[in-house]
Amino acid sequence: MSILFKRITPKTGAIVTGVDLTKPVSAGDLKIIEQGLLEHQILFFRDQPVTPQQQCDFARFFGDLHIHPIYPVLPELPEIMVIDTHEGFLPDNDNWHTDVTFSQTPPLAGILAAKQLPSVGGDTLWANTVAAYDALSAPIQKLLDGLTAVHSVSKSFPPSRWANDPDTKERYERAVAKHPPVNHPVVRTHPVTGKKGLFVNHGFTTRINGLSDAESDHLLAFLFAHVSRPEFTIRWNWQVNDIAFWDNRITQHYAVADYLPERRIMHRATVNGDKPF
Ligand code: SIN
Repeated sequence: MSILFKRITPKTGAIVTGVDLTKPVSAGDLKIIEQGLLEHQILFFRDQPVTPQQQCDFARFFGDLHIHPIYPVLPELPEIMVIDTHEGFLPDNDNWHTDVTFSQTPPLAGILAAKQLPSVGGDTLWANTVAAYDALSAPIQKLLDGLTAVHSVSKSFPPSRWANDPDTKERYERAVAKHPPVNHPVVRTHPVTGKKGLFVNHGFTTRINGLSDAESDHLLAFLFAHVSRPEFTIRWNWQVNDIAFWDNRITQHYAVADYLPERRIMHRATVNGDKPF
């Protein structure tokens, strides 16, 4: 079997065939997948009924794994974050975000496996932030290049949801205490490809430093709208046992919350990253 990548759009996303992620993947194939991720930003694998352990084993080839400080995780394998959404646990990832940018060192990648899906709906969209940056005019690129912005955990994880519930309160308060707001560059350079991508996201970015409130609000509103233009995005219609693998350094994603009262269960393994520059 040889690994093949089939593009989904000219610049973003590819479907990968020729690999079985329920089995150990050879070093050569891992290198090919890593290269494919750099080229396509988001990779999709169909028909991969991985166990949580197999999902972690695959993810670990790309780095150490992150344990989410707030979201539910598998008790026996906390490196697997469980996004089990239904009427009793409402989806909250229906906004454009890059995962965990409230950390000094946001993740390198996310690996998401579809475990249970609604009969229809529950798609996920990804945006290519390099394509979004490249499409900006030179004067706007120049304006953004030296700026930094604040990212805050409580923007996507508000106390109203997490601190009011006795089951989640203590863990939430520890996470907030451990993650004060952080500054990241508004334009991030990919550490391997050297490409520049927009690094502000609706989920966590609260303010651009050095601007007035009105300037920051307007510029962020423009950038959030710009990055989600259809030209830079793809939309994935899940089947059970699909896996999506995205480069979290240069993408954002949005999980469409159109399936309630049906249930949707996803497992995410998250690979640690480094400090954006
Ligand atoms: C995520 O927001 O990390 C997961 C996206 C999804 O549930 O589709």
